[in-house]
Amino acid sequence: MKMNKRPLVGAVWAITFLVISTSSVVEGRYHHYHKRQKKVIGNSPLAVEVFPAAPPALSPSLEYSPDPSHSPQTSIPSSPAAAGISAPPTVPSDPYPDPRSSGTSCIFDVTSFGAVGDGTTDDTAAFRAAWKAACAVKSGTVLAPSGLSFMITSTIFSGPCNPGLVFQVDGLLMPPNGPDCWPKTDSVRQWLVFYRLDNMTLRGSGTIDGNGEPWWDLPCKPHRGPNGKSIPGPCDSPSMIRFFLSTNVAVSGLRIQNSPMFHMKFDGCEGVFIERLSISSPKLSPNTDGIHLENTKSVGIYDSMIANGDDCISIGPGCSDVDIDGVTCGPSHGISIGSLGVHNSQACVSNITVRNAVIRESDNGLRIKTWQGGTGSVSGISFQNIQMENVRNCIIVDQYYCLSRACRNETSAVYVTDLEFRNIKGTYNVMNPPIHFACSDTIACTNITMSEVELLPHEGQLVDDPFCWNAYGTQETLTIPPIDCLLDGMPQSLAESSRYGC
Ligand SMILES: *[C@@H]1O[C@H](CO)[C@@H](O)[C@H](O)[C@H]1NC(C)=O
Ligand SMILES: *[C@@H]1O[C@H](CO)[C@@H](O)[C@H](O)[C@H]1NC(C)=O
Ligand SMILES: *[C@@H]1O[C@H](CO)[C@@H](O)[C@H](O)[C@H]1NC(C)=O
Ligand SMILES: *[C@@H]1O[C@H](CO)[C@@H](O)[C@H](O)[C@H]1NC(C)=O
Repeated sequence: MKMNKRPLVGAVWAITFLVISTSSVVEGRYHHYHKRQKKVIGNSPLAVEVFPAAPPALSPSLEYSPDPSHSPQTSIPSSPAAAGISAPPTVPSDPYPDPRSSGTSCIFDVTSFGAVGDGTTDDTAAFRAAWKAACAVKSGTVLAPSGLSFMITSTIFSGPCNPGLVFQVDGLLMPPNGPDCWPKTDSVRQWLVFYRLDNMTLRGSGTIDGNGEPWWDLPCKPHRGPNGKSIPGPCDSPSMIRFFLSTNVAVSGLRIQNSPMFHMKFDGCEGVFIERLSISSPKLSPNTDGIHLENTKSVGIYDSMIANGDDCISIGPGCSDVDIDGVTCGPSHGISIGSLGVHNSQACVSNITVRNAVIRESDNGLRIKTWQGGTGSVSGISFQNIQMENVRNCIIVDQYYCLSRACRNETSAVYVTDLEFRNIKGTYNVMNPPIHFACSDTIACTNITMSEVELLPHEGQLVDDPFCWNAYGTQETLTIPPIDCLLDGMPQSLAESSRYGC
């Protein structure tokens, strides 16, 4: 079942309602915010990627969000006029008003706050000021208009804000060009951060470009050092768009490209709706995952195209109720659950559905990867109607995931159960067997259902047969290539109740 979609309001209304003018009052204020913000961001706990995060002692939201004690229902949105901005006098009660029938939406065009949009001027202060103003009203829209290129530095757009907030990019938005231009006081691990928001939308007909190339070419990155080696050195690179501790957020319509690291990352979120995104980076750009989820629940990802140099979509620990439909991946490293259980941690992932996907020219297709020594479980995972084109490891469960050569086998493992693969067809790259179930020695994978799985070599001949180790399941139809290593029934040793704490 898809999560409820709502009709998108076109870019037209944004243009129709450019009603804001600059004022010297705002100018004075945002310079003030800008200075204070810089200091806070340098110390922000968000710079360290740890979850669960303790509530920040010095919350950046204190700097430019309305008083959090205002409940959205009872607070009277501060009038834009109070900030010296001329704007329509009323605030719509419908968070998504039809722009053709009312003149009541509040657009905060960043150019009205002093943004230049010439691609080189630092427009950060203008974006912060527009955010602050939009945050303070119901259904405010921060608009980065079309035809202009905005450059902003690493910024935390923080809530709480009034509901219905929209961040609309119709033009081009980009960060400073590479590590040499990155301000020394800014986090090098993140660029655009949306933090502590509820009922917020990021959308637009424009492009968010990460200027990733100088980061991909750092000598610490794979094969980028002398003679194609990797050499030690500072290697942190910013994820482009991060949603953190937020609820009911939507992202739609945008082109998001050339990220230094992950393109989009959601952690600690609940209620995420993504549709019609085009995400792209070159095949050989390192660690440029398309959409990464972690500790995030109730997610819908629909009708999007992702081409990159790492996982197309990656689902980390603490995720459940994820519905993916109509996604095309490739080139990429496929759709991946994991890695889970690193450093003996507990990982719980459940109820993930992937339907109607195309995966092409990819290093993996559908993958579950766990480290030795974890606990927890991966359960209720369904892959249906997936078309593969020249994919290595079309279907792979790897419970021996290891980045060095020195991972010991351990007795505990993340329990993998209730997996289904239905109508998975297409072609595989013969470098690897198309089906590979390498389950833990001590904790078998159970209840794997395969139905209409038919995979043919893209070119050449199958070298190795499908592989299974300690994998239990059933085939409802004959699998191609034939897989006779799947074990019947359930292992005797497995305690029925064991979901390892999930
Ligand atoms: C915001 O809330 C409105 C009203 O409940 C809802 O229709 C809309 O889908 C929500 N938007 C997001 C991004 O969750
Ligand atoms: C599984 O997730 C979907 C959303 O993808 C949700 O609608 C459904 O209720 C969940 N099922 C269970 C059993 O929680
Ligand atoms: C771990 O166990 C697997 C499966 O029994 C085996 O193939 C592999 O060689 C073992 N690895 C080590 C490092 O002992
Ligand atoms: C096996 O997994 C399927 C989902 O793939 C689930 O519907 C079914 O209940 C599971 N069977 C058992 C015996 O747990």
